[in-house]
Amino acid sequence: MSQTIFVLNGPNLNMLGKREPGIYGGKTLADVESECAVAGRDLGLAVDFRQSNHEGHLIDWIHEAGAKAIGIAINAGAYTHTSIALHDAIKAISIPVVEVHISNVHAREEFRHKSMIAPACKGVICGFGVHSYILALNALKNLTL
Ligand code: DQA
Repeated sequence: MSQTIFVLNGPNLNMLGKREPGIYGGKTLADVESECAVAGRDLGLAVDFRQSNHEGHLIDWIHEAGAKAIGIAINAGAYTHTSIALHDAIKAISIPVVEVHISNVHAREEFRHKSMIAPACKGVICGFGVHSYILALNALKNLTL
């Protein structure tokens, strides 16, 4: 049985493709899910891909992943910049978590420069468009080698 990686997506990422395409590109979240599934297959990983606009769902999924996955790639959307609860949820589990962003948050508004979750994560990948997700899967796979 292949090892599982959770790919978690936070608020407004269900709008990918329609939402500010100049920043986030034209691909939908379903496109990203398919690309992650293909990349996962190549890496020998099963990808459990989820999205929610609700902070509590993301927290529950982080706990769930802690019990059954080998790693998490999380694009927490705007909760990245605000959520101590997500920080604490990541601290509460022992599998590696990679913070992911489609855009280069450091080249954008000042309020996006601060991440509440980065100190709890193994690393951060941002600015490579939706390819950031694939880079995160590779990074997590590499940690298991
Ligand atoms: C984002 C960047 C966040 O600042 C923003 O709130 C998002 C998307 C990204 O993937 O670039 O919702 O996480």
